[in-house]
Amino acid sequence: MSKSAIVTNSLSKKFGNFTAVDQISFDVKEGEIFGFLGPNGAGKSTTIRMLCTLSRPSGGSATIAGFDIVRQDSEVRKHIGLVSEKMIMYNELTARENLKLFGRLYDIPKDELNRRIDEILSLVHMEKWADKQIGTYSTGMKQRINVIRAMVNKPNILFLDEPTLGLDPQSTSEIREVIRKINVENRTTMILTTHMMVEADLLCNRIGIIDHGKIVALDTPANLKKMASGTDVAIHEFDIPNLNNAMISAIKAVGGVSSIVQESETRIKVRSGGDSFDSILDTVRKCGGKVKEVKSLEPTLEDVFLRITGREVRDSVSDTVKINHQGGPRHGPMGGGGGSKRGR
Ligand SMILES: Nc1ncnc2c1ncn2[C@@H]1O[C@H](COP(=O)(O)OP(=O)(O)OP(=O)(O)O)[C@@H](O)[C@H]1O
Ligand SMILES: [Mg+2]
Repeated sequence: MSKSAIVTNSLSKKFGNFTAVDQISFDVKEGEIFGFLGPNGAGKSTTIRMLCTLSRPSGGSATIAGFDIVRQDSEVRKHIGLVSEKMIMYNELTARENLKLFGRLYDIPKDELNRRIDEILSLVHMEKWADKQIGTYSTGMKQRINVIRAMVNKPNILFLDEPTLGLDPQSTSEIREVIRKINVENRTTMILTTHMMVEADLLCNRIGIIDHGKIVALDTPANLKKMASGTDVAIHEFDIPNLNNAMISAIKAVGGVSSIVQESETRIKVRSGGDSFDSILDTVRKCGGKVKEVKSLEPTLEDVFLRITGREVRDSVSDTVKINHQGGPRHGPMGGGGGSKRGR
């Protein structure tokens, strides 16, 4: 049994009367990538900030590498690196200068710091660019430097708060590759926050789904997905070249349909009670819809989230049509949320 790098015990944070983090308990094993997945405002960054000793817990406790985050905060800081939500680097300085500046915050002897900087630059294949101003970099290159900046002090535990937020698809996959490489080559323990299901699925050994400050599920990506498939909810993607709003409204009205996500001009993803499929198909045909293709989809972590919280996690999808669960299956123990229509 491997050792725990991080242990939290009923960790909580209140801002006035508002509870941002509500008694969360979990542990992260050495060498593990642990994902914190949740929608905006769920409490991900607040948890990270407490674990990084930047914010004092209102209740509960936690240890990092065996050290208490409140009583032994300076010991904790020696073992951790943080890639925070905001990238703080100086555009007019080179990558090497930025890394040196940051490295001086730690008492690392000059020669050792220089060696260390070369080592981490090569880890992300940035040696050639090291002496160019950061301002000339692409966003992906900047983020690579931002990630290794957190590794200047050789931390064995790395916190990554939404490391791919706002990056284009190529930079996103580069950064994911960097994260994986750091984890494999250095056996660095990681906590990664994201609100992208795909990202958590790709990178994490285990995922804690956090909502309204509470962990509502915690397991491996595979087990979480099994959880979603154990429901009576079926997910079908329809490709209907003459899809229109009237047709979508008619499908919405079919008993058992719990949500419709419009994926493109012709494609919709429909979640429904397992036996509603025939009625949906009939309705489409009655509306004159010509179905080109129907796919039965594997549950994704999105579905797990929906099942547990009763809400979609994706707030970035502009054309999501959410429907109240009236008459349809109730999703999850919290049973709340839903019903919000997220228009353009
Ligand atoms: N310093 C603060 N004072 C008051 N409220 C705060 C403070 N910091 C965070 N909050 C509130 O706590 C809740 C959790 O915020 P947090 O930043 O941890 O969410 P998050 O899961 O990181 O969200 P996001 O995906 O948007 O980054 C939010 O409702 C936020 O408004
Ligand atoms: Mg955050």
